[in-house]
Amino acid sequence: MTGRLQDKVALIIGAARGIGEGIAERFVEEGARVVIADTEVEAGCETAKRLGGLFVETDISRMDHTERAVRTAIDGCGGLGILVQNAGIYPWTLIEKISPEEWDKVLAVNLKGTFLAARAALPHMKAQRFGRMVFTSSITGPRVTSPGHGHYSASKAGINGFIKSAALEFSGYGITVNGIEPGNILTSGVKMHRSEAFIRSMEEAIPLGRLGSPRDVANCALFLASDDASYITGTTIVVDGGQTLPEGADFRINPE
Ligand SMILES: NC(=O)c1ccc[n+]([C@@H]2O[C@H](COP(=O)([O-])OP(=O)(O)OC[C@H]3O[C@@H](n4cnc5c(N)ncnc54)[C@H](O)[C@@H]3O)[C@@H](O)[C@H]2O)c1
Repeated sequence: MTGRLQDKVALIIGAARGIGEGIAERFVEEGARVVIADTEVEAGCETAKRLGGLFVETDISRMDHTERAVRTAIDGCGGLGILVQNAGIYPWTLIEKISPEEWDKVLAVNLKGTFLAARAALPHMKAQRFGRMVFTSSITGPRVTSPGHGHYSASKAGINGFIKSAALEFSGYGITVNGIEPGNILTSGVKMHRSEAFIRSMEEAIPLGRLGSPRDVANCALFLASDDASYITGTTIVVDGGQTLPEGADFRINPE
């Protein structure tokens, strides 16, 4: 199917690479104009150029940057129908070693950034009585976790709580707010921040037998951003290849 986002403008934060880039690409395939907002200028410009969109340098943890990103979409593309806040960081640190500064940084990007993005997009979406907000959460925090993810888990569980509040508050304005909980998606970020052994162990834990791709998540974001999801708000969809299903480690009891 094509044209599911025809004539829509989408601001995608954290889209220079990885899952966000995959979402931007998928949206463009369906007719959207995209604005890529990211801290990484070179990669962000390249992605925007490749997809025929705009780039705006944005640190999502800063309110002035977030507001500038929204203005770029409105002034540069004539509107803003879809907001995707996907930027996130995931340093691996055991709780006993997490400094207050590192804690604040993870919460500032992942959780405060999500609030700032919603707050910045709200006035425009409220005025036009339409909006789709999609936030990238994670299975890590809301459903499962592993050592080294104390701050990250807290930030992602916080996003799920925020989604519910925002969905309720914005429901009278024709704005839906939903989230995606990806499982283990193979991105450059994961390759940079996680060991080969960790990645292999995750792969073995996935019933569908492979790590996810940015496109797997992008297809879900497309659904939530499209008219097909117009009656869905305040919820999250797990995209994890079944990773959160098994009760125990020996789930391949019937390999047939
Ligand atoms: N990859 C996974 O397995 C996985 C699983 C669950 C959830 N997630 C979430 O998906 C999102 C993307 O993950 P990814 O693996 O593609 O990561 P990635 O590191 O490959 O890409 C993240 C992008 O966000 C940008 N970014 C980082 N900090 C930013 C900031 N302060 N302001 C604006 N942009 C910023 C980066 O420059 C980069 O372009 C994150 O929120 C992550 O927590 C990823």
